[in-house]
Amino acid sequence: MSYQQTKMWIVDKGVEKETKRGHLREAGLCISEGQVIAFPTETVYGLGANAWDNQALARIFAAKGRPDDNPLILHIDEVEKLTSITSNIPLLAEKLISAYWPGPLTLVLPKAKEVSERVTGGLHTVAVRLPDHPVAREIIRQADVPVAAPSANRSGKPSPTTARHVYEDLNGRIDGIVDGGPTGYGLESTVVDATGEIPVILRPGGITAYDIEAVCGSVAIDPALSQQKESDQPKSPGLKYRHYAPEAPVYIIEGTLPFIQEQINKQQYEGKKVALLTVNEHLNEVEASIPLSLGSIVNAVELGASLYAALRTADEKGADIIFAESFSREGVGEALMNRLEKAASGRYIRK
Ligand code: TXA
Ligand code: MG
Repeated sequence: MSYQQTKMWIVDKGVEKETKRGHLREAGLCISEGQVIAFPTETVYGLGANAWDNQALARIFAAKGRPDDNPLILHIDEVEKLTSITSNIPLLAEKLISAYWPGPLTLVLPKAKEVSERVTGGLHTVAVRLPDHPVAREIIRQADVPVAAPSANRSGKPSPTTARHVYEDLNGRIDGIVDGGPTGYGLESTVVDATGEIPVILRPGGITAYDIEAVCGSVAIDPALSQQKESDQPKSPGLKYRHYAPEAPVYIIEGTLPFIQEQINKQQYEGKKVALLTVNEHLNEVEASIPLSLGSIVNAVELGASLYAALRTADEKGADIIFAESFSREGVGEALMNRLEKAASGRYIRK
């Protein structure tokens, strides 16, 4: 892929309103004209392209090194825009939309015939989301088209939660980056298949199974999420690839703090630099070459928001191996552990 000049627009706090509006308008127009531009959402940074422009869509795949059959999420700025990309909106989708949009919830819906195979990877459905982030929404509004946007990382890497992460992965490969400061949730949206009788969670995220059940009365989880067997084909095609992985191998350790310390010591005696993903409450209890706290043990949202940045920091600090504590699966903890398990390729060390 040839080198491109990557523009930067800074719209984070402190930028005067007029300038900010000008930047967002420019970024939006670039997208509608066929460029690929990264921008912040409330989950992670996305890499946006005009969903009606197959060439622009192809450039997303090229920039990320993304497998062709992994479909993209379309981002819209108003619920009304759904009619141009879906063929009908099932009742349960309507319920979820009124409860959780805008927000970190992607709905898989029957697609309109106009939506390209480049977006859906050949499926009959399309994934859609209305992000809860003023910068994302204004860019999409200015683009005035549905915006296809995967996470703005090189395929396989942890998703970007700051503009710097995007720059490190994609500078020279994309047309621009809108820096709107760090993202909120820091984990990708919940993906829910809303085409059947009951909603099925294909990827856990900020909107939990409990939240969905509260609105729909029932919820199912894609069996491929809990079973790690090769034979199970996840319904969300993206989940079958190596994901969210830093350079150093990741292992999740289940056990007491002394057990964790023992595992760290074993590696350090061999001269390895160990990064430990832990919580504030354990920082003074365990010793590792690179201690990295994700936040307080009682705040799963905070832990989730810090995960990807911590994985990248471990690499930057030269970790040979990354150990992570096993965190509670309560609430957003489910999404956190799902991403951590992907980063670790399912490797656990258990007592
Ligand atoms: O929070 C997010 O969702 C972020 C921000 C940028 O919006 N986007 C994101 O996109 O995570 P991406 O491409 O990294 O992940 C999209 C996921 C993949 O697992 C993909 O397989 C799944 O959504 N997906 C897309 N279309 C689908 C469809 N029609 N049926 C099932 N799964 C689908
Ligand atoms: Mg992704």
